[in-house]
Amino acid sequence: MSGNRTYTMIKPTAMRKGYMAPIMNKIVEGGFKIIAAKMTQLSKAEAEAFYGIHRGRPFFEELTSFMSSGPIMAMVIEKENAVEAYRNYIGSTNPAEAAEGTIRKMYGTNIGENAIHGSDSDENAKIEMSFFFTGREMF
Ligand code: CMP
Repeated sequence: MSGNRTYTMIKPTAMRKGYMAPIMNKIVEGGFKIIAAKMTQLSKAEAEAFYGIHRGRPFFEELTSFMSSGPIMAMVIEKENAVEAYRNYIGSTNPAEAAEGTIRKMYGTNIGENAIHGSDSDENAKIEMSFFFTGREMF
């Protein structure tokens, strides 16, 4: 059975461009309830741990340097079938290929700086939300 929670974070370029509040608003408009939120910055080592499944990929160094380059907004959101619903809502990984009206189309810069992360499975959602939040920080 699919779960009702997923992990998301607004990436550094979108934060720098002032898109934090518009993206959070768009998330809520999509029917997702924000049940945890934290503005924070990853160290390089933390970014490498978070994206550990991509270690060895050609973009790993660029991805982890970028993700530790500035503040992010980390969130846990809730909706029925959250992982799949949210991945559809944010659009394709590459903003250039994302459908009109999706978060990545509206606020993404390129495939690396694609505005927002969304967990790709229920299993990874659990791992990723516990990377950033304790049980007491999720409401
Ligand atoms: P995200 O959903 O955060 O999960 C992994 C990230 O790796 C992905 O978004 C992209 O930002 C990034 N990524 C995937 N493919 C590439 C690529 N070819 N070049 C740069 N970054 C990539």
